Amino acid sequence: MNILSPSILAADFWKLGEQIKEVEEAGAQYLHIDVMDGRFVPSISFGMPIIASIRKQTDIFFDVHIMIEEPERYAAEFVKCGADMVTFHIEATKDANKVIQCIRDAGAKVGISIKPGTPVEVLEPYIDKVDMVLVMTVEPGFGGQKYMDICTEKICKTRSMIQERGLNVDVQVDGGITVDNVHVVLEAGANVVVAGSAVFKEPITENVKRFLEIMV
Ligand code: DX5
Ligand code: ZN
Repeated sequence: MNILSPSILAADFWKLGEQIKEVEEAGAQYLHIDVMDGRFVPSISFGMPIIASIRKQTDIFFDVHIMIEEPERYAAEFVKCGADMVTFHIEATKDANKVIQCIRDAGAKVGISIKPGTPVEVLEPYIDKVDMVLVMTVEPGFGGQKYMDICTEKICKTRSMIQERGLNVDVQVDGGITVDNVHVVLEAGANVVVAGSAVFKEPITENVKRFLEIMV
């Protein structure tokens, strides 16, 4: 099944609750929550208090993407404040197995992510230990960037790696996805689509519905 995961990085934080309800009611299955530390990526977004606060108001699946150095330090805490899945960057840690274990022990699903410049092959030792691979389709750090075409082949390679091993692992894409190029990532083998600006630029309900129609 294909899943849409709107990224609240592009939301209007004045209306955050309202807008989360809107994407949920329009049919989005996940909510993508981008945590940035100002070190792994140049920008800083938000953290635990925001996640804990919205967790009290909605049951939607929290897909938490942590763009932070040494994710092992915080992974479990994100689960405690409401993450259903925590996706970390392989480039940000010396011990990916430890991060995977931390997230699992805390009771959430595990995602592992690669930046555009990181080869798919680095995933090999971990691919059978995670629930999802996130193939970044822009340099992580900011919303509203353009989809990098060189990433399409990486999506294909990731899907093949999963299929060759007979695994049931989701492939997520994140960055620059719109209703005009979403077919490209689906054809390449992605089944979880993150979209920030393309969803939260009004009209939100219509945007979600258009994505979902295309993604059937
Ligand atoms: C970028 C974030 C993305 C971002 C996507 O570092 O990981 O989730 O919100 O935004 P758009 O869809 O606008 O490229
Ligand atoms: Zn993200």
